[in-house]
Amino acid sequence: MTSQQSHRKDEHVSLAEKFHQPAENSSFNQVRILHQSLPELALSDVDATTKFAGKQVAYPVLIEAMTGGSEQTGKLNAQIAQLAATVHLPMAVGSQSVALKQPELAETFAVVRDYNQDGLVIANIGAGHNVADAQAAVEMISADALQVHINAAQEVIMPEGDREFYWLDQLAAIVAKLNLPVIVKEVGFGMTAKTVQKLMAIGVKYVDLSGRGGTSFARIENFRRPAKEMAYLDDWGLTTPESLLEMRKLSSRPVIVASGGIKTPLDAVKALALGADMAGMAGEVLHHLITTDYAATVEWLRHWLQDFKRLMLLTGSSTVKDLRKQSMVFSPELESFARQRFIS
Ligand code: FNR
Repeated sequence: MTSQQSHRKDEHVSLAEKFHQPAENSSFNQVRILHQSLPELALSDVDATTKFAGKQVAYPVLIEAMTGGSEQTGKLNAQIAQLAATVHLPMAVGSQSVALKQPELAETFAVVRDYNQDGLVIANIGAGHNVADAQAAVEMISADALQVHINAAQEVIMPEGDREFYWLDQLAAIVAKLNLPVIVKEVGFGMTAKTVQKLMAIGVKYVDLSGRGGTSFARIENFRRPAKEMAYLDDWGLTTPESLLEMRKLSSRPVIVASGGIKTPLDAVKALALGADMAGMAGEVLHHLITTDYAATVEWLRHWLQDFKRLMLLTGSSTVKDLRKQSMVFSPELESFARQRFIS
């Protein structure tokens, strides 16, 4: 298991942790939800359940695609699967492209079903793969849905990355042929309304905006370059709040997952208030698994989810849909973005 690709998977994990950002730096700090002094609600009235990808889930929170493809990351996938099953959250595995090329690595992904037999588990491949690859990735882990990641910025910075990005035709075929929800996903660079319009035009019904503000593949891949000369791209992309504001330009919307920089339950509440259907979290979960241990991570996530419910209470939200009704104020920078992008 010491192929170049396996090594890259290990490096991504260690570099994501190396560049892990504290919650104080979150782009969600550009959004304030206004306090209402009269919630007129009890915690027992709060229902955080929601429907996602055809299944009922306990919270509108997804443990995002991260890893698999090496011995170390196979162990991480086992822990993530156990974690998701324990707290009843949907989860995704990292890109399975490596296991399509090297079938001996499939077990580092399939292991998630050993620990999470009944939960909502999402497969993941890169755009550019064909329908057969998409089906193979789904079968490899008996997935309930498929994420296809679009990561042009990452590939361009990556020394060994792709240099051809004709993706829409293959994406359209996958969406048309697969009998499962297909989520087209960024990897931390965000999406404009125009990108999402193009995706919807080919039949895409689920997007994961994955904006800037958390794990930065610009920083990770630049660090992996022999000469680190693309550091000027560190701030490339739209933040997650900016991407969510972009969605206001659409007359009809897909189901929206917001990931990228979600660390606290308040970040997730803000994402849902800005119009997301689900909040996704990657780097923060990894940070807890790496810097503490499995048992402490379960405790952290349990508290996180309890606090999410308390914030629903505080914002007078008895259902996830109610979170959309919040009064919000934006920082001057975010407000300027909205104005320049003609978002009302
Ligand atoms: C990722 N991410 C990712 N996404 C994807 O679609 N396929 C993948 O293989 C990976 N690999 C990966 C590895 C590691 C170590 C991390 C931390 C992340 C991206 C991830 O799903 C998410 O979009 C971004 O990390 C932004 O969310 P956070 O980390 O800011 O919560």
